[in-house]
Amino acid sequence: MTDKQWPADLGPVACIVGARPNFMKMAPILRAFGSHRPALPTLLVHTGQHYDRDMNDRLFVDLRLPQPDINLEVGSGTHAVQTAEVMRRFEPLLDEHRPSCVLVVGDVNSTLACALVCAKKHVPVVHVEAGLRSHDRAMPEEINRLLTDQIADRLYTTERSAHDNLAREGIPVDRQSFVGNVMIDSLLANRQFAHAPEQTLGRAGVDPMLLRDAQGYGVVTLHRPSNVDQVETLAPLLAVLRETSERIPLVWALHPRTRGNVERFGLSHLLASPRIVLLPPQGYLEMLGLLSGARLVLSDSGGLQEETTALGVPCLTLRSNTERPITVDQGTNTLVGNDPQSIRQGVDQILRGAGKSGRVPEFWDGRAAERIAADLAQWLLARHTASQH
Ligand code: UD1
Repeated sequence: MTDKQWPADLGPVACIVGARPNFMKMAPILRAFGSHRPALPTLLVHTGQHYDRDMNDRLFVDLRLPQPDINLEVGSGTHAVQTAEVMRRFEPLLDEHRPSCVLVVGDVNSTLACALVCAKKHVPVVHVEAGLRSHDRAMPEEINRLLTDQIADRLYTTERSAHDNLAREGIPVDRQSFVGNVMIDSLLANRQFAHAPEQTLGRAGVDPMLLRDAQGYGVVTLHRPSNVDQVETLAPLLAVLRETSERIPLVWALHPRTRGNVERFGLSHLLASPRIVLLPPQGYLEMLGLLSGARLVLSDSGGLQEETTALGVPCLTLRSNTERPITVDQGTNTLVGNDPQSIRQGVDQILRGAGKSGRVPEFWDGRAAERIAADLAQWLLARHTASQH
């Protein structure tokens, strides 16, 4: 620790959030920047990619995230429109606020859009959660990951396999640092505040007795375009989930994209069952409580693969690949794709007590953000000193 002041002419770290999975990653980073000595000045920029109460406001409160200094209010749109709008609105901020660097997290459209603006204006880019690869370029997030890492000047990783991916893509090793998982920092910091699942159901007007089923209960989330945008894929998925609910009751936090498609395709009847609880997107503390108590999780989320691994809850990932292989190799995750038979088998295995219990990966210890703060402060100060000579 040092009592040194941050140099007055070294601008703030502009921290970008846009969509739901960014918020739980940024909260511990901002706290770590604040408690580092010298504290790193920050400018919190929200692109407005996610904007409604369920997808945005509740998470800010739950995670004790400060209100953004700037909100670009881009809202929804096609990928091109959303990315272009973020770029157009973000560019003038760089001239106005002269950040020392721009820190982006994860793989959403806002991540790439801001990184790309910085590259063209020679502002250093810092990428947290670098190097993850699903090797599936049909996923918009994979394109966002690949390109952001090419542009980034400092890359922080959550698992060691990420460094193999970065090496294959020719990213110099001295830009990379293995720091662990900031998403798990959030989980560990908030676990004690998680809401009891009975309360969450009670508040939604659902009888919490359902959670006391002899089998326990499962948690479901689904939102990937590859699972929910085509009726030919979504209908059989809903059918197998309906069938699963006859064995174990399911609590499902429905993403707005999925809710819209279920209605548009006329599939609501498949979900109309007393053993399927449909909830709107949940706050962070509600979700944490639901996950902690679950017997199993069925999801296509990136973050839930990690959270279930940290909690030791078996997770069936409804995708054929993952960018987070450590959750399969060491954690509780099993890839089952969207084939009903594999999903059935995965559920069978867990219900007969043979689900994975896994172990918590290296550096998923609640201190990843601290490591980022220490490394980044040193890096920025060294660059600043070098620029003075
Ligand atoms: C985005 C991310 C995805 C992440 C997910 C978490 C990209 C490419 N995708 O996908 O990686 O896992 O967030 O949720 O960046 N909508 C609302 N309210 C909102 C936001 C969106 O109703 O606050 C609706 C809109 O109809 C919108 C749709 O949800 O068209 C999808 O939102 P969008 O931000 O485009 O992508 P996500 O599917 O949420």
